[in-house]
Order: sequence, then structure tokens, then C-alpha cells
Amino acid sequence: MTKSSVVSGFYKLPPKERLAFIRDFAGLTEDEVRLLENTGSLPLEVADHMIENAIGVFPEPMGIAVNFQINGKDYLIPMATEEPSVIAAASYAAKMVRDGGGFHTSSTAPVMIGQIQVVKIKNGDLAKKQVLDAKAELLRKANDQDPVLNSFGGGAKDLDARIIETTMGQMLIVHLFVDCRDAMGANAVNTMAEAISPKIEQLTDGHVYLRIISNLAIKRLAKAWCTVPKEVVGGEKVVDGIAYASAFAAADPYRAATHNKGALNGIIAVVLATGNDHRAIEAGAHAYAAFKGPYTSISKWTKNANGDLEGSIEMPMAVGLVGGAVRTHPIARIVMKILNVKSATEFGEVLAAVGLAQNLGALRALSNEGIQSGHMSLHARNIAITAGAKGAQIDLVAERMIKESKVRVDRAKEIIEELTDKQ
Ligand code: MEV
Repeated sequence: MTKSSVVSGFYKLPPKERLAFIRDFAGLTEDEVRLLENTGSLPLEVADHMIENAIGVFPEPMGIAVNFQINGKDYLIPMATEEPSVIAAASYAAKMVRDGGGFHTSSTAPVMIGQIQVVKIKNGDLAKKQVLDAKAELLRKANDQDPVLNSFGGGAKDLDARIIETTMGQMLIVHLFVDCRDAMGANAVNTMAEAISPKIEQLTDGHVYLRIISNLAIKRLAKAWCTVPKEVVGGEKVVDGIAYASAFAAADPYRAATHNKGALNGIIAVVLATGNDHRAIEAGAHAYAAFKGPYTSISKWTKNANGDLEGSIEMPMAVGLVGGAVRTHPIARIVMKILNVKSATEFGEVLAAVGLAQNLGALRALSNEGIQSGHMSLHARNIAITAGAKGAQIDLVAERMIKESKVRVDRAKEIIEELTDKQ
């Protein structure tokens, strides 16, 4: 009999009953059900309020990257990631940067963009003028939606409009610029965009469809830069290698995607651990990389006159300290305490520094010994566990596989058998 995924009233069931349904549907064993039920430090009632149809949690390892010094302040960086090497590489790179005086950062004001899409306009230029002429009134209406944000000095600050040509005709796109202070801002911006849309329809005689934040947050940028002495990074040849890698990524989108992914390995791990919206950050980074021309790298490395390495990164950083899971997720709250940032702007700058460190770690390894030696030794432990190794066996199996350059589950199983026979 084919099974149907249509489950009437699934969302109304208590999580345990949802899980029972999933157990029957997917043929889960009692052990598997127990693993899902064991939600650890994120109680199921909390998870159930965070998302819909919750049946459990998905634990991810979390570790701490050390050695970070940013604008003279020391930070310990919590990172949640499934990828081996990431935290070791970030810590190693942060140490190198520290030896060169640490990271320096800056950022713009935390301004997000809300987009309002007006279609079926008869006269684009006139519609645009009418919206711009009513700017003061529209901003007032937007700000009426969030007195709390206003009381902190944030709120809707400006508004702009542009005409775009699309496959479905001309559209007027209104941009509302909102200073979100310490919030990521999606809720505030979307509420404001929805609130001013009826007036925009009236002014333009058009029809508004979409009213939503843009993840291409070009008004909310964070920047980090650093200098690493050549002797710290491994000599002038390594400096050259990293500069060549940077030039490669700047010129070639195939490489830029991986280069940026390397920086995001660090950034996303921190964003995830803090309960912030990591998809927004990822979307923003890639869109920014393609904003001024063909897709390119978000960071740059060059050799300075002294032969030392200089690096910088710049990207949108729409993160918050308040709102969403940042405050509801019990672990995210602890992560924020460890991170010890006082504003969303400081948080964004820390993330930029982490991205630059992660990028440096990857490029140094890639332009030197390659990443596989470091990666494989950590990966080998995962393979050993997948093959069934337990306790002290894990390291023994991993070491043997690395020595033989055969990091594979089938080989791990053979080694486990040998070790078990010997016992
Ligand atoms: C792997 O997760 C990340 C790298 O591919 C990044 C890079 O190539 O720069 C190593």
C-alpha cells in the first residue's frame, strides 16, 4: 500500500503523537525514536513553539575557536558545524592574525531595506514622483508601527523608488530604509512595508504585491581587515600563494564560489550557534559578491611592500541580538554570553573577522600542503565512527587508515574486525 504524506491535523497533534506517526510511516526502530525524543538542552516544548510540526531536535557539534583579537578585544568564538577542521583552522588563522596585531573592523549603520513591488502602473515616472513626494508621510506611517525601535534611535529613515523592466512589464520598486539597531529587523521591516503599501497603491494607482525585506543588505555592511607578517604565515612563498589564490577567486566565479564558501564556513557556524537566520547571511553574501559585476570573491589578499600578507573582507551582515530564536533558544542565549558582544554591529564585525580568519586558514593550507592531510585525519575519525568503532578504537582505526592512505568505511570495518579478534 502506498503511504500518503497528507496528514490532516498533523500540526494539532502533540509532538509525541507526531513522532508516533512518523515512526509508523518510516518504520523507525525504538532506538531511533528514543534518539529523537532525547532533545537535551532544547526542550521539546520550546522547539514546538519555535517551528511547526516539531518532533525532536537536530543536534550539531558546537566548539570554540580561540585566539581571536578584534580591535584589541579578545573573543572566544562559539561555532556550530558538522565539518571537521573548521574550528581548528579558524583558531590557527586567528593566532597568525593576532601575531600581526589582530583584526580591525568597521561597519555601516544597521540599515535594512524593505521592498514594495508596485505593478500595473500607467505612468512609471509619475508614480515614482508621487511616492517620493509623499516620503515624509510614508516614513511617519512606517514609524508608527514600531515605537520601541524608534525609542532606541532606530526606525524608518529614508525611502527611495526605482522603475524596473520585467517580463511582466514595468514595475515601481519602493525601497524603505530602516535602521534596525540591535534587531536583525525582518519583522520590523516587513510590518512597516505592509503598513505603507495601501498608501503607495493609492498614490500610484497601481497594485502592490510583494512587501518584504531584501537580503541584499548593502546598507548594513561589516568589514574586517588584518596584516599577517610573512614569517608567521610561512614565508614569502606562502604569502605569494595566498595572493595568487585571491586573484584567482577575484577573476573566476567557479573558484569564487568555493573561496566564499570557505569564509562562510566560519561565519555560518557562528550565526547558527546564536540562533540567527543563517540563510539570510548566506544569501546576502552571495548576492553581494555579484552586486557590482560578475560573481566574485568577498575577501581579498595581497602582499604589501614589506612582503607581508594583507587581507580584508566586506559583506552584508544582517544579524541581531534581540528577537527570534536568539532569545528563545536556551543554548543561543549562552552562546551570546560567551561571545560577549554589546551590539548587533559589534556582532557583525566579529563575524566578518571570523570569515576572514576562516578564509585565511583555507587559503594558507590550499596554497601550501593542501587541505587533505589536516582534513582527512579529522574525517578519518568520522569514518571510523560510521564503521562502528567505539571508544579508544576510534583513534586506532583512524590512525591506521591515515597511515595506509585508505580512509574508507570498508577498510575501517576490516580494521575494527582485526582489533576485535585480537582482544
Ligand atoms: C571546504 O569546506 C572549504 C574550502 O574549499 C574553502 C576554499 O577552497 O577556499 C577549503
